[in-house]
Formats: sequence, C-alpha cells, structure tokens
Amino acid sequence: MDLPRTFTIRERDHRIHNPIDDVKLATLGRAIRLRPGMTLLDLACGSGELLCTWSRDHGVAGTGVDISTVFLAAARSRAAELGVADRVRFTHGDAAGHVSDEPVDVAACVGATWIGGGVPGTIDLLSRSLRPGGMLLVGEPYWLLDPPDHATVEACDAIAAESFRDLPGLIELFGQLGWDLVEMVLADGDSWDRYAAAQWLSVRTWLDANPDDELAEQFRAELRDAPLRHVRYRRRYLGWGVFALMRR
Ligand SMILES: C[S@@+](CC[C@H](N)C(=O)[O-])C[C@H]1O[C@@H](n2cnc3c(N)ncnc32)[C@H](O)[C@@H]1O
Repeated sequence: MDLPRTFTIRERDHRIHNPIDDVKLATLGRAIRLRPGMTLLDLACGSGELLCTWSRDHGVAGTGVDISTVFLAAARSRAAELGVADRVRFTHGDAAGHVSDEPVDVAACVGATWIGGGVPGTIDLLSRSLRPGGMLLVGEPYWLLDPPDHATVEACDAIAAESFRDLPGLIELFGQLGWDLVEMVLADGDSWDRYAAAQWLSVRTWLDANPDDELAEQFRAELRDAPLRHVRYRRRYLGWGVFALMRR
C-alpha cells in the first residue's frame, strides 16, 4: 500500500501537505497548550511536520501513521534533522481503524477524514485512542461561499456540494457529535498559496528533469490548468481549518 506517484511528485518538497503554513502550524501548537511529555497520535501524518516541530518546540512525543513511504522517509529524516528522533516514531500503514496501544493526550487527523468515512467517523476513530479529558485535532475543508455550480464543486475536489459544510455547519456538527470546539486555526489565501502554488514549481522542475516520463503529458496539462483553477475556485470558495475538540 502506497500513495500514487502523482502525489509525491507534486508534493515532494512540501513539509506540510495542507493549506496551513509553518507559522499557522506553530500557532496551533502553542494555542492548544502542549506541555513536555504529552503524547500524540497523528493519523495520515504525511511528512510528519506537526509531530517533529511540536516535539522540538514543546517536548511532546508521538507516533505518526501514513501510507506514503516517500512522505514517511521525509518524516524520519526531518525528525533526525530536528533532533527529535528519540521522541517521534513513524509507522507505515493504513490509518483507517488504527487505534494506539496506549491512550494519548492528543489524537489528530489533519486533512484526511476519509480514513474514517467523514468527520463523524474520524472523530469516532480518533476518540478510541484518546485518554479521558484528551484533545482531538481535525483538519477539514469547508465552504467559504456556496458553490454556484458543479464546476466549482469539482474544482474544489468535492463529489457534491454536500461533501463539505460551511464553517457554522461544521462547528454545529462538532457540537451535535458531543464535542466542544476549544481552539481553531484557519487557512487563508496566503496559506492556500503555500500549499497549492508550491506544487506548480515542484511540477515544473520535475517536468524539466523528466520530459519523457509516462506522467509528463498529464503534468504538463496540470501545470497549464491548475493555477487558474486555484484562483478561480479553491482560493475563493474553499476554507480549511484545524479544529481542536474536547469531549463535552
Ligand atoms: C492531505 S495529506 C495530509 C498530511 C498531513 N496530515 C499534513 O498535514 O501534512 C493526506 C495524507 O494522508 C495519507 N493517507 C491517505 N490515505 C491514508 C490511509 N488510508 N492511511 C494512512 N494515511 C493515508 C497520504 O499519504 C497523505 O500523507
């Protein structure tokens, strides 16, 4: 089981595979008041930037689980670079159904709620690894503006307009599921650009180095269309945030 090569070509230089930048990630780590010795589980951890930088900055320990061998290799080398390899561990595997052996203080799934079949299922999955009184972190998109047509829905990687809620709807859902929203850090246009625009340069440099690759034609088309799609649709219509939840 591994992530398709298209993703790792596009995002091979990303440390964070979401529209939250390094400053917002650090803000979130401070906002949730991490303390040395706290334990974290990060399902679909990508390149492990959350665990590595929070371990460096706050002395926390934790485990990340992801299917991408490329991103996990980057995570392990980042942990070594930041001197936290003794505190963070990265495991290759399907995060769907993953429950930690020991209950953790913070259980996170930042931008991959499909692992639980949506927000309610992912909250349920994460809560099975959580100690009583612990905190969940859920990263999820929401509509900034109602999508006016199917082109907008599709360009925002949604199956239907109902795939995402608006921000009040998402916050209502957390309450309906029995969780208090206790902190949040939201993406903005600039942090969307760090995620989306950084892919264009990665694609372009990959194309220059691999002009005859079987994926070259697909990536040439993507490089032509993606910037316009980003500014016309995602940057305008799609919000994204990480929400910190504690059981009511
Ligand atoms: C949008 S990225 C978010 C990564 C990370 N949370 C971050 O913020 O940088 C989604 C991640 O989910 C991983 N993924 C997808 N399906 C998965 C699964 N079933 N189990 C574990 N990881 C999965 C991908 O490899 C990718 O790293």
